[in-house]
Formats: sequence, C-alpha cells, structure tokens
Amino acid sequence: MKLLDGEINQLNTQGFLILQERFSLEEVKTIKSRLPFLFAEKHPGNIKEKESQCVRTSMGLHKRDCVFERLVSHPKLIEPAKQIYSEPLYIQQVKVNVKEAFSGEIWQWHYDFATHREEDGVEKPLAVNLHIFLDDVTEFNGPIYFIPQSHKYGDHAALLDKTSTSYPLWVVSNEVVKSLVESHGIVSATGKKGTVLIFFDTIVHGSPGNMSPWDRSIFSLIVNPVSNPPLKPTRPDYKHHLDFSPINPLSDNCLIRKD
Ligand code: SIN
Ligand code: MN
Repeated sequence: MKLLDGEINQLNTQGFLILQERFSLEEVKTIKSRLPFLFAEKHPGNIKEKESQCVRTSMGLHKRDCVFERLVSHPKLIEPAKQIYSEPLYIQQVKVNVKEAFSGEIWQWHYDFATHREEDGVEKPLAVNLHIFLDDVTEFNGPIYFIPQSHKYGDHAALLDKTSTSYPLWVVSNEVVKSLVESHGIVSATGKKGTVLIFFDTIVHGSPGNMSPWDRSIFSLIVNPVSNPPLKPTRPDYKHHLDFSPINPLSDNCLIRKD
C-alpha cells in the first residue's frame, strides 16, 4: 500500500495521517483472535491498568505470537514507512494498547520522542508510529487526541510522570498544551476498525479514559531508521527492541494465507 502524494503532504503538514479502513475485517479478526491468549500470559510486557487491573498495554507481541510476527512486516504498514524514510528501518516497539469498556485509563499529553530520548538515548526524532484500529474508535471510547502541526516545534520540555497511570511516561505541561492548542486546535483520531493511523515522534498527543460500554484496542508498531539507534538503552527489550535488522515487507496476503 503506497501513500499518495497528497497523503504524504498531509502527514508532513499535520504530523499525523488517518487512512480509513485499510485492513479488512478478516485481517482485523485474525489479529484480534490472538489477544485473549496473549493477555492471559504471565509476561512482563503485559501491563495492567492502575485501577481496574485490566490489560492496558501488551508489548513485545511479534516475539510472542506468529500473527504479530507477520504483521510487523505487513506491506500496508511497511511500504508507507519506507516512503517516509528511504533508508533501512528496524522494529523499535510492538504493542496493543487496550482501553477496556468502562475502565480504560488516560494517556497523558506527551510526545513519544521525549521517552525515546530520555530513556533510550535516541538522538533524533525520526521514529514513526503506525497504528491499526482493532475496534471502531469513536468520540466516546477514548480516541487519541492530536494537536495538529505540533510536531513542527521539535522538542518541548518534558517531565517523567510515574504516578498518574501504571505506565511511566514523559509528559508535557498544561501550559505547553494550552499554547499549542490556542494556535492549532485538537483533532481526535476516529475511524472504523481496520483504519491505519500514522504519526511522527514529536507530535503532541494524549487520550481520555473510556467510560463508554465499547472496548477500544489499537495495534501500534514503532519503526526507526537503523542509523538512529538508542545510544543508552535503559528499558527492557519489549519497550525498545535492540535487533536492528532492516524490515522488509511481506506479501499483501501475509496475515490470511492458509499455510
Ligand atoms: C493511546 O493508546 O491512547 C495512546 C497511544 C500513544 O500514545 O501512542
Ligand atoms: Mn504516544
């Protein structure tokens, strides 16, 4: 799946791009069918919500499951990534973020590069985050909010927040968010299951809790140029993988082939 010139322009200008329903219902069903087994595993990559103890995020999935092993090389994700950077890319992080109905908790306002810089020693904000919606994501079930164009400002001051949720995160202050939103507003990334969302490492984003009766799960693959590795990795492998082998796309039917 190649991005059109207009889509690449939109991504470069806004810092994120929503591509409605690019994975089929069958592909989404195949991906989702693996989750109950993975979430039931006793694995350090399964991180529970602070309050409900439901799974909040499940990480390192391509090393734990054969469907996710193929998904991280899916052409609908990797071809766009290769259009963005015409250099070899490695798999930095692979997860499903869940927001279970009634209990999914927030992700505070942040930009991903703050964590990559502070915790992994990555030098440049070149990582690209590629999402697939595994449920319909609506205004009600905890969509990701983006501040359009906030990626253009580069780095903002960030602080490590270890207490708001069970997942330590480098967050930005309300003052920074207020001033960015005054200029650029907020967009919530919604779409049917199968929708692809691509965004850059310095775009400011966050998401509210899920008080709706509908689950919200999203697959996320972060890729990064091989030339921009973590220089001081401090996190476990499932948070930043250290295998710098270049990713090559598989065939279009790699998820549903019958072998
Ligand atoms: C979320 O799953 O709502 C947050 C995802 C992210 O910060 O990339
Ligand atoms: Mn993020």
